[in-house]
Order: sequence, then structure tokens, then C-alpha cells
Amino acid sequence: MIEFLRRFYKDDEFPFLWHYMPALDDLGKPIPGVATVPQFVLEVGSGKGGFLTEYAQKFPQNYILGIEWDLFCARSTIKKLQKLGIKNAMVIRGDIFYFLRDLMPSNSIDEIHMYFPDPWPKRRQQKNRLILRDGFLEQICRVLKFGKRNFYWASDHEEYNAIALQTFRKFPHAKILEENTAQPTYGIETGFEKKYKKEGRKIYRSVVELRVES
Ligand SMILES: C[S@@+](CC[C@H](N)C(=O)[O-])C[C@H]1O[C@@H](n2cnc3c(N)ncnc32)[C@H](O)[C@@H]1O
Repeated sequence: MIEFLRRFYKDDEFPFLWHYMPALDDLGKPIPGVATVPQFVLEVGSGKGGFLTEYAQKFPQNYILGIEWDLFCARSTIKKLQKLGIKNAMVIRGDIFYFLRDLMPSNSIDEIHMYFPDPWPKRRQQKNRLILRDGFLEQICRVLKFGKRNFYWASDHEEYNAIALQTFRKFPHAKILEENTAQPTYGIETGFEKKYKKEGRKIYRSVVELRVES
């Protein structure tokens, strides 16, 4: 079994003692390792957890992990999970790039979902776009299991979407399977998608196969 999650925390009593121990769920059982569930999937920037929660309910045999930078969003997801008694989902608060680079083992995730990432529309902010961050797609590719694995993408921002597609086309291991024509994955609309659809915005959804060789 690939164990992927350990908690790093300070001792309550002894100030210089730190613990680095396997993470346990609220029943005291180790959080499932990636090899113990049929599908282990990851959502990048899971927001308030609309997709994550519905996915976990729809696929109780699988496990979904959301990585979310914003504390308020991460907490609001956890509240939903607690209220619904969902046990096959988890949120880690932090920056997805460093989480993948520093913590996530290679060859460990079945699919990755990235929906409505912040578009950073102003020119001086564009360096913050995740898809364009140096080494981001390489990390995505590395953590996906060997073989053909899918990366699901959606955006309402025409220009960022076009740049993302261009980046996928240039990436040596990527093949775009559905370009701007994909439907909500497993029929699940994300929180932002619902809002944008009400506003009448156009949504661009694509599926990219990332072929990872063993
Ligand atoms: C526009 S929201 C979309 C939320 C959700 N995916 C949806 O479709 O409803 C983008 C989310 O990505 C998160 N985010 C942005 N950069 C991130 C990063 N580097 N690591 C983790 N989360 C990030 C933001 O905090 C925000 O909640």
C-alpha cells in the first residue's frame, strides 16, 4: 500500500517536540492509502466543495481529495462533509503546486479535476495562472498513475481557456480528447458553474489524456 498522508504537528505539552505521524480519520482509523480504494481522485482548487461533495456521494467506493488554498472555502467544504456524514473525501488547505511537488508520491492518482481556476485577468497577475506555473503540468503528470489517465478542465474565461488548451497541445504527454465540448464530469456541476450558467456565461470544458509511461 502506498501511504501518502502523514500529519506534522506540535506537541501540546512539550514545546520542542513535533510529531510526524500517519493521519487518522475521526474514528481513529488511518486515512485510506491510495492503493486501498478502486479510484483515488484529486480536485485542484475545490472551492466550497460542490463537486467534491457530490462526487463522494455518487462514488462511495472511491476517495476524493480536494486541495484548496482559501481557508474559508476549505472550512465550508468540511462543514458540508460533516453535515452529510461523508467519509470518503478530504480537504487539505494549501497551495496545490507545493502539495504535489513535496508530498504526493508518483503514480498514485487515477484522475485529476480542475474547474474554474482563478483566471488572473490583469496582465501583471497572469504569472499566477496555475496552468502556466513552471513545472505544474509535469507534477500533474508525475502523480497520475501510469498509463492513460484523464485531466478534466473547465473555465468560463475565454482567454485563459485558450492559453490552457495551447499549453496542453504543446505538452509532450498530453492529448486533448474533448476540446471545449465536454459535459459536466459524471453529470456534476461545480459551484461556480451553477452560478456562471445562471449568469448566461459560456462554459468551456475539455478532457485531456495525460499518457504517463511506466
Ligand atoms: C474560482 S474558484 C473555483 C472553485 C471550484 N473549483 C468551483 O468550480 O466551484 C478557484 C479556487 O481555486 C483556489 N485556488 C487558487 N489557487 C490555488 C492554489 N495554488 N492551490 C489551491 N487552491 C487554489 C481558490 O482559492 C478558489 O477557491
